[in-house]
Amino acid sequence: MSKPKVWISRPFFPDIVDRLRPYFEVCAETEDRKHSADELAVCLADADAAIIGLVERIDAATIAGAPRLRFVANLGVGHNNLDLDALSAAGIGASNTPDVLNETVADYAWALMLAAARRVGAAERWLRAGHWQGFRFEGWLGADVHGKTIGILGMGRIGQAIARRASGFRSKVLYHNRSRLDPRIEHDCGATYVDKATLLAESDHLILVLPFTAQNRHAIGAAELAAMKPTATLVNIARGGIVDEAALARALADGVIAAAALDVFEGEPAIHPDLLKLENIVLSPHIASASRDTRRDMAALAVDNVLAAFGHGPHAGRPPT
Ligand code: DGY
Repeated sequence: MSKPKVWISRPFFPDIVDRLRPYFEVCAETEDRKHSADELAVCLADADAAIIGLVERIDAATIAGAPRLRFVANLGVGHNNLDLDALSAAGIGASNTPDVLNETVADYAWALMLAAARRVGAAERWLRAGHWQGFRFEGWLGADVHGKTIGILGMGRIGQAIARRASGFRSKVLYHNRSRLDPRIEHDCGATYVDKATLLAESDHLILVLPFTAQNRHAIGAAELAAMKPTATLVNIARGGIVDEAALARALADGVIAAAALDVFEGEPAIHPDLLKLENIVLSPHIASASRDTRRDMAALAVDNVLAAFGHGPHAGRPPT
């Protein structure tokens, strides 16, 4: 009997891919790029399983053209690219990569917050452009992070990892979430639950970590930005669609808030042109989980989940996370 076929949409770590080979015919792409709906249709036409990047959309139309597909492993914790209802209606299993990336993404949220608050990107661009004539006492003043109030909107496991880092900075952490955390978890990560209005009004630095759904598209728009402190920093490491980018560009240009940092964009890789004109924003290409160790862990988890879904490997029989 021929082996089932697994299609891998991105090249990654050959030693991890090799773990599939005893059980699967492996068809791994060699170019690290998004595949269009038409390309997906071709690649999935005879695939039994797929490991995909988090920008490839699997919906009812894709599934209709993939009669053998039994399992999809998403290389990311966010899974707004998967139509879970359509997958489940077709009896296709799905997994994402939670937990293995929590600490790495939390590190990066802090990196962006510090960079935006202390104007690291703009200062470096200015220096490289040859403008630096010597030390200036009142030059490049930014906002402190230590001792300030950090707000977290969306308090899952990544939000909690971000919060735990605050104790070394002696920062206060406020959070808002659909549901309040167990008091023991609140205590462990030193975070206090508040309503969204209080979070917006009191945060010196607000970090967005909520999952993207149809309901929270543009959850941060002109009204929410106007409710923040004029000295505040906004950081988005969740999904681009959560922020109204045109409203954010206006707010940054008009001094409604002081600074922002975005790792994700609504139409990525396209960036709203008004954001590119601003100096008080740090922009990065969706790399919050991109450490060498974590990307290996994410790849290994995706491979484990495919193996388990087909009854192989150490996690066989365990439902994928
Ligand atoms: C994810 O896994 O959803 C992140 O966006 C990756 O950085």
